[in-house]
Amino acid sequence: MKAVVYKGPYEVAVEDVEDPVIQAPSDVIVRITSTAICGSDLHMYEGRTDAEPGITFGHENMGIVEEVGSGVSSVSQGDRVVLPFNVACGFCDNCRAGKSAFCLTVNDPGTAGGAYGYVGMGPYSGGQAEYLLVPFADYNCVQLPQGDEHEKDFAMLADIFPTGYHATELAGVKPGETVAVYGAGPVGLMAAYSAQLKGASRIFVVDHVQNRLDLAKELGAEPINFDDGDPAEQIVDKIEGYGVDRGIDAVGYQATARSGEEQPAVVLNQLVDTVRHTGGLGVVGLYLPSDPGAPDEHSAKGELLFRIGRFFEKGQTMGTGQADAKQYAHKLRDLIIAGRAKPSFVVSQELPLADAPEAYEKFDNREPGYSKVILQPNR
Ligand SMILES: NC(=O)c1ccc[n+]([C@@H]2O[C@H](COP(=O)([O-])OP(=O)(O)OC[C@H]3O[C@@H](n4cnc5c(N)ncnc54)[C@H](O)[C@@H]3O)[C@@H](O)[C@H]2O)c1
Ligand SMILES: [Zn+2]
Ligand SMILES: [Zn+2]
Repeated sequence: MKAVVYKGPYEVAVEDVEDPVIQAPSDVIVRITSTAICGSDLHMYEGRTDAEPGITFGHENMGIVEEVGSGVSSVSQGDRVVLPFNVACGFCDNCRAGKSAFCLTVNDPGTAGGAYGYVGMGPYSGGQAEYLLVPFADYNCVQLPQGDEHEKDFAMLADIFPTGYHATELAGVKPGETVAVYGAGPVGLMAAYSAQLKGASRIFVVDHVQNRLDLAKELGAEPINFDDGDPAEQIVDKIEGYGVDRGIDAVGYQATARSGEEQPAVVLNQLVDTVRHTGGLGVVGLYLPSDPGAPDEHSAKGELLFRIGRFFEKGQTMGTGQADAKQYAHKLRDLIIAGRAKPSFVVSQELPLADAPEAYEKFDNREPGYSKVILQPNR
């Protein structure tokens, strides 16, 4: 089959790889209809993780079930499914608690959590390919209505819609509250959208890519361009001197400072300034224990200059980590089916798999009009 294979920094190729085969009775094989490129893939694409050349990318997958292992009971051939990016067992302590991003079964001892096509997240191949092997299929497949309606919306259930929602849960967003989201990439936009679904009264979205800020504005959020001045000051000014109730980091360790250079802790520190005393911070932007391209020796080991003193003084709380996508995917799916959510507003391109190298390059450059790319291997 054809698949998107990582060749080295800034290079992916669409190549022939082995077709997946059922390995355990609980597996299924899915024929991919839509698979999206994520900002998380860009960390690997840029050589800013320990990902080795040869891995097939793709953790935002949906498609049609092609083959079913003998031990699978709730999934049948021909079912249309989306696969939230957490590969998880469904029966360990963390899965039973809804923390599917920290499954204790699917990765090496001492680690937790699995994902398709992601470094450090277990041996699972990615879905930017014609077919995908799905382990523990009864737990990992989310059923969708037959046909091709809402394809772009449902594709967002694999990661960014539940991840954006999870960010609002980590931050503790409640109706009527004010929220600041750092990052107007797909994840930040979904966090703002989720805050809106939850009834936030004011939502600020910070970035410096104008067309992404425009999308935030269309959504009804208030765009803040950090090139125009310290974003925390801009926001605090707008709400008359006291911080917002909740803050979300949808940027991560490759954050850009106003000066233009990378500054890994800049967003975390600006969140401390943006959020009021005793407010909540939800951090879904990625931070890693090892960064081969870090700007200094400490951040190479994931040690950042976070202003814990100010954070403590303000009595704030912080939630972090990979999103428990599985926990929200079914209910968010039902919002899409009911016509009450349309996350596909972030999708800018639907392209054949063969266009992946160009799509990676343009999305990585945050080119205008490249807010979220879906690859369609069956085109
Ligand atoms: N926790 C999870 O489960 C999970 C899931 C998906 C993605 N992620 C992570 O979320 C982050 C965002 O993902 P994405 O797909 O939206 O990526 P993206 O790279 O498309 O978006 C990041 C945005 O942040 C902006 N940015 C950079 N520096 C900034 C700053 N100082 N202040 C405000 N904005 C700034 C960039 O201009 C860009 O628009 C990534 O780190 C990704 O790895 C985490
Ligand atoms: Zn993703
Ligand atoms: Zn588990």
